[in-house]
Amino acid sequence: MQTADGGSRDNDRDREAPAVRRPADAVDPLAVSLALAAVHLGAPMAYHVETKRWLKRPWDVKRGLQHTPTVTVVIPTYNEARHIEEKLEDVYRQVYPRDRLEIIVVDSASTDGTAEKARRWGAAHPDADVKVVEEPQRRGKASALNAALAMARGEVFVITDADCRWPQKDALRRAVSWLADPAVGAVTCLKKPAADGPAGVEAGYRDRYNILRLAESKKWATPIFHGELAAYKTELLRKIGGFPLDIGADDSHTAARIAAMGYRAVAAEDLWCVEAVPHNSYHKWRVRRAQHLLQHFLKTPAAEAPPPMRPILLAEKYLHLANPWLLPAAAIVLAAAATPPALDLLAAGAAALALKPYRTWTAAQLYLMAAAIRNIRSKELVWEKQVK
Ligand code: GDD
Ligand code: MN
Repeated sequence: MQTADGGSRDNDRDREAPAVRRPADAVDPLAVSLALAAVHLGAPMAYHVETKRWLKRPWDVKRGLQHTPTVTVVIPTYNEARHIEEKLEDVYRQVYPRDRLEIIVVDSASTDGTAEKARRWGAAHPDADVKVVEEPQRRGKASALNAALAMARGEVFVITDADCRWPQKDALRRAVSWLADPAVGAVTCLKKPAADGPAGVEAGYRDRYNILRLAESKKWATPIFHGELAAYKTELLRKIGGFPLDIGADDSHTAARIAAMGYRAVAAEDLWCVEAVPHNSYHKWRVRRAQHLLQHFLKTPAAEAPPPMRPILLAEKYLHLANPWLLPAAAIVLAAAATPPALDLLAAGAAALALKPYRTWTAAQLYLMAAAIRNIRSKELVWEKQVK
């Protein structure tokens, strides 16, 4: 608009603007929030791109397909009467020399007759070397695994949850073939959710994570192992003092400690486990497992790892411990600003939840945050059994 002196009102306003600007306006909440969201989504994407490069590498592992070390398969149980016989069958039907295979069921004071069932199964299969250890008190899975480690005779110590299945008859043979290489200290499976669980959610989440596990393994070692099938060189387990009693993710933490000693700890590309997904208490189950992973990452210093393992640990520690929090931080900045563009952006972020990959990702972030908060109150080292 023209004024009497020939200038424009708009120009006048522009000139006056700096005088009325308050310090609070110096930081644009929109920019802050977008920056937080960009790091929150960009960091895992950058890691994804980097891991894709690792995935293209050769394994550089000398596998021994004829390697048959003595093996101890340990099944820790707490109230697994529904699953124990099927699990024992699972191990029994493995194509592996029977005289080189020992099975230990360590039961921690189950109240549903699990130990009794395991003993009966053992008596009915005299050609299988089955030992059933009954702990008088439940002190948690890691403590039970340590009891098995104290008596294990196998050169390889394999742990497997009672409620998971090994779909491959040669799973053991495949697992130990990786351990034939003196550089490999531990090996784990990739996971498929059981078809009868809420597989949609789980399968989406698993595919992505299986690829990460493989890429990390090709580079050096993956810091996330699966109790459905984790095989360790027994002497290395003994060297690190067995399973940690103060960290729920006993499987992952032992693998990371073995990797810290300079050995490879890998997820094998040809080894699959089917894990049962609980029908109820699904969220509780995800939170508890996330709690255990956080405990593991908090206690695994990247600085002590061998150089090729360091970037893996740094990335995974950051992605699990810090990155989830950037998402609510971005939302809070927008909500606090409460300007129309900020609220529009917040609404757009919420609307994006209609996209499945983003929803799956966000759910995983929420589980991690809930887990961090719950860890303050209880580490859930002895946990409630969910029905699967
Ligand atoms: N002996 C013994 N003592 N065994 C136990 C105890 C215990 O106090 N608590 C649990 N277990 C056994 C279960 O019976 C099962 O065979 C196995 O340990 C895993 O426990 P689940 O209750 O089935 O837990 P999950 O399905 O969430 O397991 C996953 O997460 C755990 C950590 O949160 C797996 O990855 C486990 O390997 C992992 O330890
Ligand atoms: Mn389970």
